[in-house]
Amino acid sequence: MNILVTGGLGYIGSHTVVSLIETGHKVIIADNLSNSNKEVLDKLNSITNSNILFYQIDVTDSDKINILFEQHKLDGVIHFAGYKAVGESTLKPLKYYYNNLLSTITLAKACKKYNVKKFVFSSSATVYGDNNVPFKETMSLLPTTNPYGETKVMGERILQDLVKSDPEFEVTLLRYFNPIGAHPSGLLGEKPNGIPNNLMPYITQVAKGKLKELHVFGNDYPTIDGTGVRDYIHVMDLAEGHVAALENIKQGVHIYNLGTGNGTSVLQLITTFEKTNNIKVPYRIVERRQGDIASCYADVTKIETEIGWYAKRTLEDMCKDAWHFEKSTVTLV
Ligand code: NAD
Ligand code: UFG
Repeated sequence: MNILVTGGLGYIGSHTVVSLIETGHKVIIADNLSNSNKEVLDKLNSITNSNILFYQIDVTDSDKINILFEQHKLDGVIHFAGYKAVGESTLKPLKYYYNNLLSTITLAKACKKYNVKKFVFSSSATVYGDNNVPFKETMSLLPTTNPYGETKVMGERILQDLVKSDPEFEVTLLRYFNPIGAHPSGLLGEKPNGIPNNLMPYITQVAKGKLKELHVFGNDYPTIDGTGVRDYIHVMDLAEGHVAALENIKQGVHIYNLGTGNGTSVLQLITTFEKTNNIKVPYRIVERRQGDIASCYADVTKIETEIGWYAKRTLEDMCKDAWHFEKSTVTLV
């Protein structure tokens, strides 16, 4: 298929581009580089031995998006483009609502206009709110604690309404759990700007000596050791999950969790990282982080049964590849 990948130079998008090309699909990337770098394109070309078509455009710019749709015969889109920092979204809610919602609406309008009916959307486990684990696609969604989460709930809703109005659309909403790790080459990975918000990039930067110690946000949750439990999934598994979802896409709206189904605590992740990479990660227990929930992990029965996809890589693989990527990146300070 000929697939437009918005946000294709970002963390998850870039890994998915690799999987798409490796499985024989053609890719066009649209990214405004607001949270990525053109160098990623060179790396993608080198990993896949191809010359990927790239447009530096903002997906909220309907004129440019329309031109792109006019110039290329697309079979479908995978829409990764958006802002994702939970904390920043509470400080700058309008920036988040504007970009995340307008990009989805603009893209969906172009799909409607140019008759491109396959649409895969990056949603998040955050839409479940503080439900009982494991999270199942059939659960009622609970309020999220931040504007970022609300943009995902609304994005899902917009696409569901679109399908109601035009049943020929084939929409898949993928609810990601916690992607970590990197491409095994060490060329692609997660490169946050400034001090990382997420656990794995923080761990790798502490291990490298860029940051002094990890702050573990609370050890009084009702979990195995009191620290937060999440469903960490290797980003290459997540990438392959997109290809599987795209190749099995069908009419209507279909929602799938993309996780492993396993919960891992913060302390368990630290220990696995230390053992796998034979390196210490100094940490200190601090107060809970506002807005965090105790446990978040997926029920993955639906995607396994309906599509036959499941995550294959282990927590050790995630720790090894995340560390390999961190060691491969140049520290400028
Ligand atoms: P990322 O920031 O690495 O990638 C997003 C990419 O989109 C970046 O390259 C950025 O430059 C681009 N972009 C943003 N707004 C744009 C716009 N208006 N026009 C064109 N390009 C634009 O983020 P990621 O981790 O790869 O996440 C991809 C998607 O998955 C996002 O929608 C995110 O909300 C969602 N998601 C991520 C996680 C996670 O933990 N990383 C979890 C759940 C859902
Ligand atoms: N944590 C720490 N110290 C840190 C960072 C995180 O102890 O420095 C803990 C958190 O309290 C939590 C766990 O590590 O228990 C994971 O935290 P992350 O920030 O890595 O991830 P979250 O689960 O909070 O959120 C992530 C993405 C969201 C997405 C969600 C989906 O940031 O965008 O996963 O499950 F919606």
